[in-house]
Amino acid sequence: MFAKVLTDVVRSVGLSAVMRAAGVVTRLLPIPRPTMMVGPGSSARLGQAINDFGHSKVLVVTDPVVSKLGLMAPLLQALKAGGTDFVVFDQITPDAPIAQIEKGVAVFKAQRCDAIVAFGGGSAIDAAKTIGLAAANQKHPAQLVGYFKGLRAPVPIYAVPTTAGTGSEVTVAAVISDPESNRKLVIADTRIVPCMAALDPTLMVGLPPEVTAATGMDALTHAIEAYIGHWGTAFTDRLALSAVGMIFENLPVAHVHGHDLAAREKMALAANYAGQAFTRANVGYVHAIAHQLGGHYHTPHGLALPFTHKYNHPEPSMPSKNPWHISCRLV
Ligand SMILES: NC(=O)c1ccc[n+]([C@@H]2O[C@H](COP(=O)([O-])OP(=O)(O)OC[C@H]3O[C@@H](n4cnc5c(N)ncnc54)[C@H](O)[C@@H]3O)[C@@H](O)[C@H]2O)c1
Ligand SMILES: [Fe+2]
Repeated sequence: MFAKVLTDVVRSVGLSAVMRAAGVVTRLLPIPRPTMMVGPGSSARLGQAINDFGHSKVLVVTDPVVSKLGLMAPLLQALKAGGTDFVVFDQITPDAPIAQIEKGVAVFKAQRCDAIVAFGGGSAIDAAKTIGLAAANQKHPAQLVGYFKGLRAPVPIYAVPTTAGTGSEVTVAAVISDPESNRKLVIADTRIVPCMAALDPTLMVGLPPEVTAATGMDALTHAIEAYIGHWGTAFTDRLALSAVGMIFENLPVAHVHGHDLAAREKMALAANYAGQAFTRANVGYVHAIAHQLGGHYHTPHGLALPFTHKYNHPEPSMPSKNPWHISCRLV
């Protein structure tokens, strides 16, 4: 009993020292930011831009739903028109299970690709990031879990989000899942941040209301957790607050009037700002719990988030931030 208490004390002291050190590192770490294209038609413009980089073959990573909906047509037409060869891998399902990522790596290698376009929600984008890192380092995806586990940088990754939630187009993270152990796994590396991304609201008008709501809650949670956490900076605070304001104004509109392009574009931008905020300032308890629910019960990520918000009490050392005011409006 005494030994267990002692171990727990040592662990908690060690953990808090590690967390403090990590906080310092994330404040100082240079995090690349993708060149952004924003607005209706920007996915086609991204395709035109990719043509200028002279890749020999691009792997386009997406999911079967997005593929069937034909959302990639403008980008693929732009690639074709510009003479860029590409191959589509459209087998990624929610939470990017490891087995599908392995298949993607096999296609990447067999087709000798030298760039990746990640096209879809967070699951497709995170799968694409992992495929790139695994292929560059000849490692199994599970070996990349943690911080900076690959020696080599992936080939250039371009991203087109089709949900307004994860902000994965700007983050250092890739969340994948291991169905065998029922766990969600996080890969973190500044080199998996895409080099260019397009926020095209025309791709989001068909998002069902429930996916709109759940993914919007994800963006809101990123902003709140980045803001109330210990690692925020003036820069991340500004982005987080802007995102919260934009989400409160535009998520109800996008939810009810899915075809409202202005609301969809503002939500895509808000998710992007929240992604920039949390990729430096990190997330917190809400994500810790949501990842367990996602791993065990496959609860959609955004749906697993809201219930823990009410436990986000104000941090006494930061009364000026008044996080309780934000959290209260959610529950
Ligand atoms: N990398 C990061 O920084 C980060 C941040 C937060 C969450 N995540 C992870 O991202 C994943 C969730 O991503 P998500 O919330 O974007 O959902 P998702 O990618 O799993 O997609 C959800 C569903 O929406 C469908 N869909 C996507 N775009 C659509 C469109 N335009 N029209 C119609 N249907 C569409 C998909 O086919 C899928 O069925 C989780 O695994 C989560 O842990 C990653
Ligand atoms: Fe999230």
